[in-house]
Amino acid sequence: MVKNVLSILDLTKEEFDEVISLAAELKRKRAAGVLEDILPKKTLGMIFEKSSTRTRISFDVGMYELGGHAIFLNPNEMQLGRGEEIRDTARVLSRYLSAIMIRSYLHSTIEEIAKYASIPVINGLSDKEHPCQILADVLAMKERFGDDLSKLRVAWVGDGNNVCNSLILAGAHTGFEITVSTPKGYEPDEEVLKTAAKHGIRVKYFENPIDAVKGADVIYTDTWISMGEEDEKEERLKAFKGFCVDDGLIAHANKDVVVMHCLPAHRGEEISDAVMEGEHSIIWDQAENRLHAQKALLVKLLK
Ligand code: CP
Ligand code: NVA
Repeated sequence: MVKNVLSILDLTKEEFDEVISLAAELKRKRAAGVLEDILPKKTLGMIFEKSSTRTRISFDVGMYELGGHAIFLNPNEMQLGRGEEIRDTARVLSRYLSAIMIRSYLHSTIEEIAKYASIPVINGLSDKEHPCQILADVLAMKERFGDDLSKLRVAWVGDGNNVCNSLILAGAHTGFEITVSTPKGYEPDEEVLKTAAKHGIRVKYFENPIDAVKGADVIYTDTWISMGEEDEKEERLKAFKGFCVDDGLIAHANKDVVVMHCLPAHRGEEISDAVMEGEHSIIWDQAENRLHAQKALLVKLLK
């Protein structure tokens, strides 16, 4: 199995499918009260440059449930915060830990850690991608639509951000079609779109969110203001007007459409309260699946 998961495309299709099916198996077993010590004495270091609820807690609980251990590392309390170099930190951590999970502002920070670490490095969210989120999401889609997602139409409405980028790239493994609608200037990463084209991923862009959700089986949205973009709040709130996933918008999609959100959500901005609480939402399953998907990923990387 690959050593680092910085992008969803660091997993081959075969590895991706293996992680998802192991996640489903671990989920079933846990529900039946079965937790096996698959990773005894393994230790995951978790570096967080930014806040987290789901990623931090699901990785921590996940390692515990696998018989291993997780350590939360705040860079400001490490020598990193006083200027110790990333490459030195990566090499030292590799002498203690079994794997590193890092959430950072810059994707390049994770790439540098991965370059110098001799243990697996997992991207727990960067400005470019959020692969762990998408593993959980694909499990949630399969739970709803079955194993073959290739006939699915997935609409992204809102900011063309890190989660959107990983969702697009997951098209290489799932075969689903992605329709994207963002305000001008907030489209997905250009490099990601080039990579998507190379992999034959079916991505279509629509200026109008109504056109993007027509015929959609899934509507996915995320905050309009990602971590690190707080200074742009005013202009973003203006630019994204009309991009709220509400009952009016989902009425244009398939009757059985599911609505997804990686959370945290901002009710009344990118999604309405009624949709979050409504019958189309599979948001809580997504959040739960972070635990199962990451446990499966850890097993694949560390066993
Ligand atoms: N979706 C997600 O990654 O949530 P957190 O920021 O709470 O980890
Ligand atoms: N796009 C959001 C996702 C949070 C999990 C952010 O980067 O803040």
